[in-house]
Amino acid sequence: ATTLRGYADARGARIGAAVADGPLRTEPAYTTVLNREFNSVTAENAMKWDALEPSRNSYNWAAADRLVNHAAANNQGVRGHTLVWHNQNPSWLANGNFSASELNTILKKHIDTTLGRYRGKIYAWDVVNEAFNEDGSLRNSLWQSKLGSGYIANALRWAHAADPNAKLYINDYNIEADNAKSDGLYNLARQLLAQGVPLHGIGFQAHFVVGQLPSSMKANLKRFSDLGLEVSITELDVRIPLPASSAELAQQSTDYKTATENCLGVPRCAGVTVWGLTDKYSWVPGTFNGYGAALPYNESYGAKPAYQGLSDGL
Ligand code: XIL
Repeated sequence: ATTLRGYADARGARIGAAVADGPLRTEPAYTTVLNREFNSVTAENAMKWDALEPSRNSYNWAAADRLVNHAAANNQGVRGHTLVWHNQNPSWLANGNFSASELNTILKKHIDTTLGRYRGKIYAWDVVNEAFNEDGSLRNSLWQSKLGSGYIANALRWAHAADPNAKLYINDYNIEADNAKSDGLYNLARQLLAQGVPLHGIGFQAHFVVGQLPSSMKANLKRFSDLGLEVSITELDVRIPLPASSAELAQQSTDYKTATENCLGVPRCAGVTVWGLTDKYSWVPGTFNGYGAALPYNESYGAKPAYQGLSDGL
């Protein structure tokens, strides 16, 4: 085994990439790397609510179907991302001023429709994304403000009924360390499990800055795993202030290796997904001013030191 997916397969783990629909359709070098190196894919945007239902009751499945079909054709699993979030909701939903009972109906229908369409084809779903504030309280999203915190248990129950074999996740960022935010999530996860709510895993997004992996990461993932939950790294990238020096690229390689080991070294780690494959298509430069070079391949699909780090961690 000399590819990432070869190493991951050998240990029964997932190595995934977030996939953008544009290059998937048009760029052979992109699909070549994707198919050779990864045994799992996540839609970077195509399964978000605004993409699936841009106007109410009018669905656009084209890009999501394309990815699911691509994955099946290339023996890749699919992580579904994401059902309940405060971002990338269609404007009819975000600005709709719906009552609580209308919102519950809308959310249940979204979950039933989306999971129903892909039932049996998606091994894990990020059911709830980014529900927490940094202090560990629940974010005052559309869902929380209108429905209260019960929206999380309801979403998980509806998702489980719609696709009983999918592993259902709560996913968030800045929860890799043992900190106030991960404490809030830990307490919620314990409560949900005690109540018999179908929560199966925690997704750690892992959007890191080079050289700044939290030292408590492995122990923190382990405490969730000790609850009987799966843990996964779901959106790994390691951003560097531009221009990246060779020392920073070397540190980034170490960071990829350490992050991967921090997950796979914990019982019930399902795997690691990288948030893209090539620096040519990464959300980092557009989001974090002055940063980039966050992924394992450079703009011309050359493997960076980070590729070797990731490989060494598998
Ligand atoms: C990002 C995508 O990468 C961008 O293309 C898009 O413009 C915004 O969303 N956390 C998440 C992901 O859960 O869905 C986000 O993806 C990155 C942060």
